[in-house]
Amino acid sequence: MTVAQLPGAAPGPGVDTPSGYGPLDLFGEPFVHDPHPVLAALRQQAPVHRDAGTGLWLVSRHAEVRQVLLDPVAFRPDNAQLAVSALPVAALRVLARAGFTLPPALADNGGPSHAGLRRLVTRFFNAARVAAAVPVAEEVAGGLLAGVRQRLDRTGRADLVPDFARLLPCLVMMRLLGVDGVDPLTLVRWSDDSLELFWGRSSAERQVELAESVADFHRWLVARVAEAPAASDTLIGALAVHRLPDGTPLDAATAVAVCFFVLIAGQSTTGQLIATVLRRALEEPGAWARAGGEAGFAEAWVEEVLRREPPVTSWRRVAAAETELGGVRLPAGAQLLLLLMGAGSDPEVFAEPERLCPYRENIRHHLAFGAGRHRCPGASLARTEAAVALRAAARALPGVRADLAGGPPPMLGLLSFRAPLRVPVRVPVRRG
Ligand code: HEM
Repeated sequence: MTVAQLPGAAPGPGVDTPSGYGPLDLFGEPFVHDPHPVLAALRQQAPVHRDAGTGLWLVSRHAEVRQVLLDPVAFRPDNAQLAVSALPVAALRVLARAGFTLPPALADNGGPSHAGLRRLVTRFFNAARVAAAVPVAEEVAGGLLAGVRQRLDRTGRADLVPDFARLLPCLVMMRLLGVDGVDPLTLVRWSDDSLELFWGRSSAERQVELAESVADFHRWLVARVAEAPAASDTLIGALAVHRLPDGTPLDAATAVAVCFFVLIAGQSTTGQLIATVLRRALEEPGAWARAGGEAGFAEAWVEEVLRREPPVTSWRRVAAAETELGGVRLPAGAQLLLLLMGAGSDPEVFAEPERLCPYRENIRHHLAFGAGRHRCPGASLARTEAAVALRAAARALPGVRADLAGGPPPMLGLLSFRAPLRVPVRVPVRRG
């Protein structure tokens, strides 16, 4: 994430909009509530479309999204973490006072240091570590769900997001990475605030508030990196002994940038996935009971939710030079928004995309974790945690129902992140 902002929305010279669309409101309630009608129209009528509102080129079909992800030379990752909205001077001052700087490290790093840093991070989420995380996730889930159960017994109602979905990935990640000395709730808040500051469209007042929180997070990380003993069994310790391709030690600012990204990627997105997985399983007749009892169902359900309603709905790339994509000419520097969610519902790849079919044949062909050189190294951990969470919740709370009394839940609607902010449940009313 960087305070540098996306280039302005005004059309560049000679840039043509390939359809009759006006600006799309990518942050508006209708789109956030249900993006699928707009995504379907884009796929059919303008699969590579310049949005006049943001200046971004929206890429919505599976074929072109995949093509871009797999070509890091023509389509560079440099813009992956640019701030979506301009930050007011007051927010910039808050960040400057904290010495906030995040040099390219992982997702936005198209340079020679990327491969080594990616290897370092991937080690913490390899198959053995993920397998070892299963009992940890089960234990943490059991503890959190006991609290939910108590609340349900007391009041008849509970919300599975604050008490379960948001906390589980944070607690698991702290154990895997050897992170301690911070309240998990603080870490969750820092992470969510960072996403909102850099991917949201908030008021100036709110941006200043978010900047204070992000500055605290950054200061905490700088101190942790400065005091970490060189060791390979914690993320910060491993960064301290890391060497760049030219043999020099990694600078502290880049070590902080790695931690900043991993601590956010490792929890917020997984918490968002769990929230959607739980919501959809509660809404689909029979799914909750199957998740608790049928071997393999929870894993397959998670996969279908990743395809149809991924937490990371889009990701960015920038055209290195003038090029062509899907029959449309793109100028050098064109900022692309790859609609991962649109790709997952492309009928060219997925039959009846609107249906969640846990046993569809090509169930893993979605692009919810990206593809190629920057493909998410936490994919296996995220999948595993979400399946553990669903199974554990369905078993611990077998009789609960979605509580629809308040209407559809409010949604997190950032440029690239989408999930229900609440998953209210209730115990059924006993009759007679
Ligand atoms: C449901 C949860 C998650 C989703 C949907 C998700 C999605 C993504 C996506 C779309 C990318 C960019 C891929 C690309 O550019 O091709 C990415 C990158 C990344 N993710 Fe995840 N992620 C999730 C969970 C995690 C977890 C749990 C971790 C760590 C524990 C993690 C760590 C990373 C890292 C380090 C990168 C950058 C990799 C690189 O540039 O080489 N993510 N993720």
